[in-house]
Amino acid sequence: MMSRALIKCLMCWSLFTLVLVCNETSAEEKLIRSEAPEPGSVNTADGLKAWDRIYEVASHPRCANCHVGASERPMWSGPSYGKTRVHGMNVVAGKSRIGAETMLCSTCHVDSSATGRGNPVPHAAPRVKAAWALAPVEAAWFGRSSAEICEQLRDPARNGGRSVAQLAEHLGHDVILHWAWNPGGDREPAPYDLQTHVNDLLAWGAAGQPCPDR
Ligand code: HEC
Ligand code: HEC
Repeated sequence: MMSRALIKCLMCWSLFTLVLVCNETSAEEKLIRSEAPEPGSVNTADGLKAWDRIYEVASHPRCANCHVGASERPMWSGPSYGKTRVHGMNVVAGKSRIGAETMLCSTCHVDSSATGRGNPVPHAAPRVKAAWALAPVEAAWFGRSSAEICEQLRDPARNGGRSVAQLAEHLGHDVILHWAWNPGGDREPAPYDLQTHVNDLLAWGAAGQPCPDR
């Protein structure tokens, strides 16, 4: 006859595996399609409309808080933060962009690769399955205008040497971007969704990367 302890143990085990399975599926990243339309098949007006949506995403707090440029200070902005201010606790990212000179971002923004979980607790440090770091200085978006961000993104000298196809490819696989649309806690997600954002980038590219006037 099975002992009570054994039954308990079995129940525990099945609960444990169930939890594991649930985590697996929730952590699974959606596959992003990135087939570009034919170059020239999107007119300038539609390209500019796509750009307007791209700008809404890029200037949203879930993106711009990390894309702060030379200040080396991440931002706390968006509805869940109340007022806009620089990151608390005197956090400075330094030239390394990961806080190597003072306090590593990963001290609090733990890489969630091991647990497969983000951080659902409101006001806790966000976690992604990657090293948390500030974006490169050239990719400064916080407080920048639509025209300024547009010109930066189409300039290979300031966008990591990427074509539009490479930008879209980069986005489709970037775990930080997956986080921005599912940030946990009470954070407001970035507008639209990752697939729409990738489609807009590719359409903007096919239209010849038009930018609004300054
Ligand atoms: C945790 C900080 C962080 C957040 C949040 C973040 N990024 Fe970034 N971003 C980075 C880092 C770091 C890089 C450089 C990575 C690389 O070059 O591989 C980068 C690079 C990029 C690039 C490459 C082009 C360039 O000019 O360098 C694009 C495009 C981009 N991010 C878009 C976004 C968008 C869109 C969002 C919001 C949906 C976002 N990022 C949110 C940190 C962040
Ligand atoms: C001492 C712990 C700690 C360190 C170190 C730290 N952070 Fe944070 N960070 C937090 C906490 C906590 C929050 C969330 C605060 C909240 O939601 O009220 C946060 C939020 C953020 C946000 C806002 C995310 C969003 O859009 O909601 C960014 C960007 C950020 N941190 C970047 C960094 C970078 C870059 C570094 C390293 C240079 C870093 N942090 C180092 C604790 C830390």
